[in-house]
Amino acid sequence: MAMSRREFIGAGATAAAGLALAQPLTVQSRGDAAAVRGLTAADARPAVISSANGIRGVAKARDMMLQGADPLDAAIAGVNITELDPKDHSVGLGGLPNEDGVVQLDASCMHGPTRRAGAVGALEDIATPSLVAKAVMDYTDHIFLVGAGAKKFALEMGFKEQDLVTEESRQIWLKWKANHDPNDAWLDHDDDVKIAFTHGTINMNAVTASGDVGSVTTTSGFSYKIPGRVGDSAIVGAGQYCDNDVGAAGSTGRGEANIKIAGAFFVIEQMRAGASPEEACLRALQRAIQMTETRLLDDRKRPRYDLTYYAMAKDGRYGCANIYQGPQFAVADARGARLESCAYLFTESERPRGPVPMHTLSH
Ligand code: GLY
Repeated sequence: MAMSRREFIGAGATAAAGLALAQPLTVQSRGDAAAVRGLTAADARPAVISSANGIRGVAKARDMMLQGADPLDAAIAGVNITELDPKDHSVGLGGLPNEDGVVQLDASCMHGPTRRAGAVGALEDIATPSLVAKAVMDYTDHIFLVGAGAKKFALEMGFKEQDLVTEESRQIWLKWKANHDPNDAWLDHDDDVKIAFTHGTINMNAVTASGDVGSVTTTSGFSYKIPGRVGDSAIVGAGQYCDNDVGAAGSTGRGEANIKIAGAFFVIEQMRAGASPEEACLRALQRAIQMTETRLLDDRKRPRYDLTYYAMAKDGRYGCANIYQGPQFAVADARGARLESCAYLFTESERPRGPVPMHTLSH
């Protein structure tokens, strides 16, 4: 990594000095994407939206709903594809480990028709935390289990214990360990590479042909995080939320920025008040930036992190917004499964330059 924690704190304070007033945020909207090609949003249902890493999952989830599946069962089956993919280092099997080389997973889900929720945090050795979250929802009077208790519950429910560190993710972790502090006792090697922190995540939101919704988010969280760190993905109302009267929403990116605004709940409430899904996502980004500590902003109040919101309205309209231009999201509806560009607040050229603090890189 480029900076120690101490150096980063100092650099953040310097960048924050003399902060200008927030500029009005320019919303660069694509409009309501579902209202194209003569297809009404409702005609497009069942429909699914997710982060781009869910492109295979949205197709599966939609196919399942066409066969009559429940929206949450469909969304969870969709994210299971990514959780079980050892090549994806952002979730489940092969997810990048924490500082100690241990994979700790977070997930939460919500079921619109029955108004229930489930979640797990810092879960170890189980590849599909989304399904454990659903088991918490289905089989307990609780909503949120963490750590050793979550694992014990999962094993009792019949989930299989396995080592989630793959040879590839172990090599990445070892290279991080060899690079992260020049004063530690780990020797550097010529083939060591700079390893970026990642906080890949998958959020998926589904609506059936009749308008029932479900939402799920699952992640291995920040790579090389402090053991025990739980991010937004495990937190109902932050990483995901749904309300069968309105729709479903979720987030990927810097969880610490999203938790403070209860982002998924915020998106749903914006939609309930009349905002389009895309506008609701953009408003959530604006609120997250307003709530960001100065050490993570440049002198024009542009964040040094990434954050994305995804929203699916009950009527089949959908939207997604990222702070900076560039990322795509996955969607599947009557027009098929595809990637589309996220709406955004700032162009990539407006992103703050210079060293990027730890735990703020792209997802
Ligand atoms: N959004 C994923 C995390 O922060 O853990």
